[in-house]
Amino acid sequence: MFSSKIVQFGNMKFKSKFSVYFKVLCLFIFAYLIIKYSGVLLKSTTQLGQKNTSYNEEKNIFLNPDYEILDFENFDNIKGATKYIVPNVVHLIYLKANEIKFYQAINIYSIFLNQNPDYLMIHCDDCSFKGHYWNQINSISEFRNKIKLHKVKLNDKIFGQKYGWLEHASDTLRLLVLMNYGGMYFDNDVYVVKSLDKYRRYEMTISWDGDQEGLGIQVLIAHRNARLLKAHYDSYRTDYNNSIWYYTGGMVPAKIMLKHRYLAHVVKYRLGTQMLVNELYKSVWDEWKNLDTIHLLINHRSYLDEKSPIKEFNDTNIRDYNFTYGHMCREIITKLKTLYNIDFYKKSK
Ligand SMILES: *[C@@H]1O[C@H](CO)[C@@H](O)[C@H](O)[C@H]1NC(C)=O
Ligand SMILES: *[C@@H]1O[C@H](CO)[C@@H](O)[C@H](O)[C@H]1NC(C)=O
Ligand SMILES: *[C@@H]1O[C@H](CO)[C@@H](O)[C@H](O)[C@H]1NC(C)=O
Ligand SMILES: *[C@@H]1O[C@H](CO)[C@@H](O)[C@H](O)[C@H]1NC(C)=O
Repeated sequence: MFSSKIVQFGNMKFKSKFSVYFKVLCLFIFAYLIIKYSGVLLKSTTQLGQKNTSYNEEKNIFLNPDYEILDFENFDNIKGATKYIVPNVVHLIYLKANEIKFYQAINIYSIFLNQNPDYLMIHCDDCSFKGHYWNQINSISEFRNKIKLHKVKLNDKIFGQKYGWLEHASDTLRLLVLMNYGGMYFDNDVYVVKSLDKYRRYEMTISWDGDQEGLGIQVLIAHRNARLLKAHYDSYRTDYNNSIWYYTGGMVPAKIMLKHRYLAHVVKYRLGTQMLVNELYKSVWDEWKNLDTIHLLINHRSYLDEKSPIKEFNDTNIRDYNFTYGHMCREIITKLKTLYNIDFYKKSK
C-alpha cells in the first residue's frame, strides 16, 4: 500500500500524502525513542548504579537455568520448590568503609566456613580495601578466589527524597542487589552459624515475628524475581519516611506481609535478628548453636551493653571474653587455625 502511493511521483497529491507519511514516520520514530528511553530509565532504577564490564560476566555466573523462575504467581512459600532456586551467593555491602574490622572478619569467615558460598560479592562504593584482616582473608586463596568486588554508586536520594541515614542507602541497595542477582544478603554484623541451603528453595525467606513488628532485614534470602523485593523497593516511592530509623526498611515490608503472607517463607526465630544482647554479651547461652544466623547488634552495644569494659572487640580481648560472643568467635578462630593455619592472635608486622 505504501509503495504504490509513493511511486506516483509528480502527482500533486503526493505532497500532502508525503507530509502525512512523514508525520507518521516521525511519530513512529518519536514513539520508538520514548519506548527505548523509558526502557533505559526503567532499567536504571532496577540495576545497580555503576556498570562494569565484569559486572555482567559475574551476573551471568549466577544465572543457572535452574534458578530462572520468571513468575512466582501461585508459588508455595511454605513448601518451597523441590530444588534450589536461589544461587549460593552471599552479598555484603560496605559503604564508606575500606577496612575490615575484627568482628567483620569473624563474620566473613563464618560465611565461608558455615555456608561455603560459590561467591561472596562485596558491594562497595570505594572498594579499595586494605588492612590486616583484608590481607588475612585474602591470604587464603580458596576464599580470595570467591570474593567479587562490585563497585556501586552511592546515591544520596531515593526516588527524589534524601536519605535520612547512610544505613537507609544500604537498605535500598540490598533490595537492588537481590533483585539483580538473587542470593543471601547479610548485614556486616551477622554471624552465620549453619548452612542456609534449606532456605534456597523459597522465593524469599525472611526473619519475622509475624506481627506488627518489623522484618529483620539484616538477613534476606531471595530469588532475584521475588515479589516482596519489588514491592518493598517500590514502597520507597510513596512510603519513605527518612526521619524514622526502621520505618520503610523494616515496618513497611511487615505491613506488606500482613496483607500478603504468601509472599515469603517466614522464619520466626532461627535467623537470629531478634534482640539477643543479653544472650550474647551478658551470659553464656549455648542455644546459639541451634540458630542459623545471628545478628550481633554490635554497633548498638554502646547503649545496650554500656557496662562492658570492652568497647570494641579485638583479637586480644576476645581471648578470655567469657560470654557467648567470645565462644562464637573462638570457634571460628580455632577452625581457621586447624584448617588454614591462620594464627588470629599473631598480628602481621
Ligand atoms: C571494573 O572493570 C575494570 C576493567 O575490567 C576492572 O579492572 C575492575 O577491577 C572492575 N572493578 C570492579 C569493582 O569490579
Ligand atoms: C515522618 O515521621 C515523622 C515522625 O513520626 C512525622 O512527624 C512526619 O510527619 C512523617 N513524615 C511523613 C512524610 O510522613
Ligand atoms: C584491644 O582492646 C583492648 C581494650 O579492650 C585494648 O586495651 C587493646 O589495646 C586492644 N588491642 C589491640 C591489638 O587493638
Ligand atoms: C574467663 O574465665 C576464665 C577461666 O574461668 C577466667 O580466668 C577469666 O578471668 C574469665 N574472664 C573474664 C573476662 O571474666
